[in-house]
Amino acid sequence: MKIITSIFDLNKEIKNYKNIGFVPTMGGIHAGHSSLIKASQKKKSKTIVSIFINPTQFNKKSDFKNYPRYMKKDIAILKKLNVDYLFTPNAKDVYRFKSKKFNLKKSDKILCAKSRNGHFEGVLNVMNRLMSIIKSKDLYMGEKDYQQLYLIKKFLSKKFRVRINSCPTVRIKNKVALSTRNKLLNKKYLKIASEIALFLRKLKRKSKFQPSEIASILPNYKILLETKYNIKIDYLEFRDEKNLELNNFKNKFRLFIAYNINNVRLIDNF
Ligand code: PAJ
Repeated sequence: MKIITSIFDLNKEIKNYKNIGFVPTMGGIHAGHSSLIKASQKKKSKTIVSIFINPTQFNKKSDFKNYPRYMKKDIAILKKLNVDYLFTPNAKDVYRFKSKKFNLKKSDKILCAKSRNGHFEGVLNVMNRLMSIIKSKDLYMGEKDYQQLYLIKKFLSKKFRVRINSCPTVRIKNKVALSTRNKLLNKKYLKIASEIALFLRKLKRKSKFQPSEIASILPNYKILLETKYNIKIDYLEFRDEKNLELNNFKNKFRLFIAYNINNVRLIDNF
């Protein structure tokens, strides 16, 4: 695996490859990330993984500061996975050139965009920069961050003529979705996260037969979970898979949740 830190070196290295699969990450590599890497390798493309903890997508300075950083461990895992290139640029380089500013419309200010002001604008900004550097044919992203995937498809897929491959959420045995932020939680909190995941999975299954009825009592479930586990739920909503419309049950839909547990924000969808 070649580790590249400068944009210039990366361009020089990859300019002759046609089939590049790009897996953007912020590090803390876990099996969720590995599943994206394996999906790219299956296509026999050269796989580039980036690790860049993007400052502009954190709406709280403390969240950026506390975000887990494990570069040494990450490098060892990526080497084992036979990744071709690891790109680890610094913020100065990534933000050196001028680039389009993204503003979400009111209709997109839903789910995480409602409470994390500027977060997705920061994600779109950095992805626009990384994708214009890497110009990959394929991009691999996880359904765990469903709204992020939705917005990148909406704003960037046409511009870069990139195929966006969405990969299913990888969970540990207790059904908690793998996330770098899990590293900030101890056993007790991970157990609660597991109970919540199991509960919501069941609820989603039940909702297939009577979605509107269950949607109408979601506010009660929200209060129930908040009091039982001493957590703060930001949202618990059913939304259409394609357009993220609220309580639209005509097509496939998912149950979305974001909550704070011991000051750590977790998101998931079922
Ligand atoms: P990060 O949280 O590191 O996630 C990188 C990619 O891994 C994203 O596409 C995310 O959806 C995917 N992923 C995370 N956990 C997963 C899981 N349990 N199963 C499947 N896929 C999973 O998302 C970001 O970084 C950043 O916002 C980024 C896109 C890199 C822009 O800075």
